[in-house]
Amino acid sequence: MFAKCCGATTVGVDGQIIDVEVDVASGLPSFEMVGLPEAMVKEAKERVRTAVKNSGFKIMPQKVTINLAPATLRKDSTGLDLPIAVALLAAYGILSPKSIQDCLFAGELSLEGQVRGIPGILPMAIRAKELGFKAFFVARENANEALLVNELTVFTVDSIKDLADYLNGVTEWVPAISEALDTNYQAELTEDFADVQGQFLAKRGLEIAAAGGHNILLVGSPGAGKTMLARRLNSILPEMTTEEALEVTKIYSISGLLKKHSGLITKRPFRSPHHTTSAAAMIGGGSIPHPGEVSLSHNGVLFLDELPEFGKQALEALRQPLEDGMVSIARINASLTFPSRFILCCSMNPCPCGYYNDPEKQCDCSLSAIKRYNRKISGPLLDRIDIHIRVPRVTFKELTAKEQAEPSAVIRERVVSARQRQLMRLKKHGIYCNAQMNHALIQSFCVLSTSAKMLLEQAFKSMHLSARSYDRIIKVARTIADLAGTENIESAHIAEAIQLRNDRDYEG
Ligand SMILES: Nc1ncnc2c1ncn2[C@@H]1O[C@H](COP(=O)(O)OP(=O)(O)O)[C@@H](O)[C@H]1O
Ligand SMILES: [Mg+2]
Ligand SMILES: [Zn+2]
Repeated sequence: MFAKCCGATTVGVDGQIIDVEVDVASGLPSFEMVGLPEAMVKEAKERVRTAVKNSGFKIMPQKVTINLAPATLRKDSTGLDLPIAVALLAAYGILSPKSIQDCLFAGELSLEGQVRGIPGILPMAIRAKELGFKAFFVARENANEALLVNELTVFTVDSIKDLADYLNGVTEWVPAISEALDTNYQAELTEDFADVQGQFLAKRGLEIAAAGGHNILLVGSPGAGKTMLARRLNSILPEMTTEEALEVTKIYSISGLLKKHSGLITKRPFRSPHHTTSAAAMIGGGSIPHPGEVSLSHNGVLFLDELPEFGKQALEALRQPLEDGMVSIARINASLTFPSRFILCCSMNPCPCGYYNDPEKQCDCSLSAIKRYNRKISGPLLDRIDIHIRVPRVTFKELTAKEQAEPSAVIRERVVSARQRQLMRLKKHGIYCNAQMNHALIQSFCVLSTSAKMLLEQAFKSMHLSARSYDRIIKVARTIADLAGTENIESAHIAEAIQLRNDRDYEG
């Protein structure tokens, strides 16, 4: 007999429906699977066969052929176990074909026939809703995630035995409802700019970075507070829109990083990978493609602390995602893309010992050592960082000052209104912050006053700026003007933008 049902996998950040067809014919007993299965799906064959047997179903050894369609698509989800088992039971007449029509199944099977959760449920559920599936059957630990999609009927399956009883009408079943979400899960972000004394220039730089979505580099001696400052960048970014939250949650779902009771991720990601991170881990990939750090920081911040410690390849790999806002990962017969729009925030010492240009402590590095140290970071990468800031150590007087520093919430209000100005201007061009403007948009939206133009011309000549720096200075100046609430870019805005850019003395 022949039977089919629907399962799902993910391609990039989207769910993809897989038709699972099973044919049982008389002939020499065999169990074949076709349709380009990955190693994992081949293992599924063993798991499904054992799980069905151990669940007490009697299936006679016959010639069994399983086909996964579309055949051209690589399928690498263990979540196809459940639909394969369902189609198999239907082909043996244990389930009626009608009962599984318009239903979607996703779950991994244990050898005993229990159903386990899998990554990627959210994108699958979104697809199920779009295509109008009647019900989505998932493991208990995946139920909350599937229920993030409104008006989708979700059933939790503990074992294939339970599922068969339900589909055959032996037991009554009610659709799953969302369990109480753990609201503490995302409340861990307590770092606030109010804790940072002094450092007005660095804070101003971070405010501008947040307001325009600009990448930023903090350079300073050890203990100056670079890490402390960077960790507070998220606290002044605007809230994510529902759309942004869904994008982020999908990426975490695919990576298997979504906690059981987390619900939709509403806080912007802040990723701080260790400097031993490989290029592959940075941009993603692998035989089962996983989003890398650049995608896990999508809509948030990627913080590279102690930048020169990172491997050259890992840093070079950042160039494409930084430029395009997404990464393409080549696969054998397809290429996948994951979104990767983040603010890159980096910190570094100015030299190997850390005290080059320090007002109090003597640097004992040779000039060539300083050069070698800074050469670790390539020009093209530095060029993609709009804001370069020097972070001096705070003075004792600043550190022990009585008055509290400005809290993040106040800074965030300014950031939010600057972003609103940008949105009004840029929305129709499909972007939402100044950092994303291309040359043409810069031309049309960045009107410089006469004195601003003159100042920029002067700086351009005396500082030997590249064409890329020119665009970047104007973009940062646009953000500064947006923070000030003015439509034209004045010379003061240009002057500040140049100051945030030229701080290259650490290059030795
Ligand atoms: N401006 C500051 N206000 C309050 N504490 C500070 C300040 N700067 C540094 N600190 C203290 O010094 C510690 C070290 O700072 P850190 O961010 O690790 O420095 P860096 O990363 O530049 O080496 C911080 O954890 C904090 O306790
Ligand atoms: Mg540090
Ligand atoms: Zn030094």
